[in-house]
Amino acid sequence: MAVKGDEVLNQFTQTVVEEEAEISEKDMLRVGIIGTGWIAESHIQSYKRMKDVKVVAMADLIPGKAEKFAKTWGVEGVKFYGSHKEMLDDPDLKLDAVSVCTYNVQHAPCAIYALEKGVNVLLEKPMCVTTEEAIEIMRAEKKSGKILSIGFQPRLDENMQMIKKIVESGVLGKIYYIQTGGGRRRGIPNSTFIEKKTAGIGAMGDIGCYSLDCVLNAIGYPKPLTVTGYTSNFFGTSTDYEKPEDAARFNVDDFAAAFVRLEGGIILDFRIAWAMHLDTPGDSIIMGTKGSLRIPSTDCWNGTVGGPMTIYHDVCGQQTQTVIPVIQSKGPGLFDRKIRSFLDAIKENGTAPVPTSQILYNQAIIDHIVKSAEVGHEIEVKIPEL
Ligand SMILES: NC(=O)c1ccc[n+]([C@@H]2O[C@H](COP(=O)([O-])OP(=O)(O)OC[C@H]3O[C@@H](n4cnc5c(N)ncnc54)[C@H](O)[C@@H]3O)[C@@H](O)[C@H]2O)c1
Repeated sequence: MAVKGDEVLNQFTQTVVEEEAEISEKDMLRVGIIGTGWIAESHIQSYKRMKDVKVVAMADLIPGKAEKFAKTWGVEGVKFYGSHKEMLDDPDLKLDAVSVCTYNVQHAPCAIYALEKGVNVLLEKPMCVTTEEAIEIMRAEKKSGKILSIGFQPRLDENMQMIKKIVESGVLGKIYYIQTGGGRRRGIPNSTFIEKKTAGIGAMGDIGCYSLDCVLNAIGYPKPLTVTGYTSNFFGTSTDYEKPEDAARFNVDDFAAAFVRLEGGIILDFRIAWAMHLDTPGDSIIMGTKGSLRIPSTDCWNGTVGGPMTIYHDVCGQQTQTVIPVIQSKGPGLFDRKIRSFLDAIKENGTAPVPTSQILYNQAIIDHIVKSAEVGHEIEVKIPEL
C-alpha cells in the first residue's frame, strides 16, 4: 500500500519540529552511501540537512572516489570501502540504512546484500533492470523485515499528488486509457548511462520509469498483462549526434514505445525519448468514462507536471474544461522529502514510502518492452511468484 502523499508531508513536518531538539549520538541513524557518483551528491546534501543522521560510511568501486567525495562535501569521520560488500561486512559500522546510488545493474546485488545484513535501503530508481531481479529484491525484503523504498522523489511533488487526488475523487469515472511518456529533443547523458554493462537499460530506466510512475501510481498500479514493445537507438549510436567514442559504446535504448494491457481493461500507451526530431512525443493523458485529464509534458523529463492540467468533462450537458493551476511547492525540496520520508518510515516502524509491490510493475513493463522488442511481437507479462 502506498503511503498517501499528504501523510508523508505531515510526517515530514512533525519530524522537523522534533529535530529542533538536541539529538544524542545513540539516537542518530547511522547511514552509509554505496556509490559516490553524481546522484550521491543529492543524497549527501540531504542527509547533511537531517539532524538525526550521521553518515558513517561510503563505498565506491573506483579507488579514492569515495574519499574525494567526502572531502568535497565536507563530511568527516567516515569509513571508506572499495565495494558494497566490504562496507556491509564491517560489523563495527552498525548501519541503520544505506542509500544505493550505483548504476542500475548494481542495484539488485547491493540492495539484496544490504537487506540480508539487516540494513534498511533507499534504492535509487529504476528499481533494477529485470523483472527477475525485482522479485529477488522483494524476496530479500520480505525475509529481512526491513524497509526498502525506491527513490521516486516526484511522488512527493504536490502537483503529482494532485493527479492521484483527481483520479481518486471519481471525477474521471472509470479509467480505460492512459498515455504517458515524454523526453528530450536532444539530451542523451553519457558516462555510465549508455552501456548495458552498467545501466542495463537507457532512456526507459533514466526517465521512462518516472512517466510510468506518474500515471500508474495515480490509478493504483494495476498489474501489466501483455506488452508490445519497441526500442531503438538511432541517435545514441550516430556520430552525427554523439562523440565517436560514445557512439561506439552506446548499446541501450534512446527511444522506446509500447502498447500495454493492464488489469481492469485499461490500456497504457507509452513513449520515451532521450533524443528525437520532435519537441515532445505528447502530453500524458488519463481518459475515463466521466472525464479525462491532460497533464502537460515537459521537454526535459517527465518526472514533473509541465504546466496547468486540464480536466475535460461535461457539466449539465455542456462540454467543459476545468483548468487545475500549477501548485507552487512550499517547504523542503523533493530530495529532502524523499530522504525524510524514508528515515521516518525507519524510525516509526512504518512502511516504505515508495514500495516495491508497486514498482515491481513499473520494472516489469520496462523489462517486457525490452523482451518484446527483441522478439518483435506482443508478449505476456511473466512475473515469478514472490
Ligand atoms: N532520483 C534521481 O533524481 C536520479 C537522478 C540521476 C540518477 N539517478 C539514478 O542514480 C543511479 C546512479 O546514477 P549516477 O549518475 O550517480 O551514476 P554514476 O555512474 O555517476 O555513479 C555510480 C557510482 O556507483 C559506483 N558503484 C557501482 N557499483 C558499486 C558497488 N557495488 N559498490 C560501490 N560502488 C559502486 C560506481 O563506481 C560509480 O562511481 C542510477 O541508477 C540513476 O538512475 C537518480
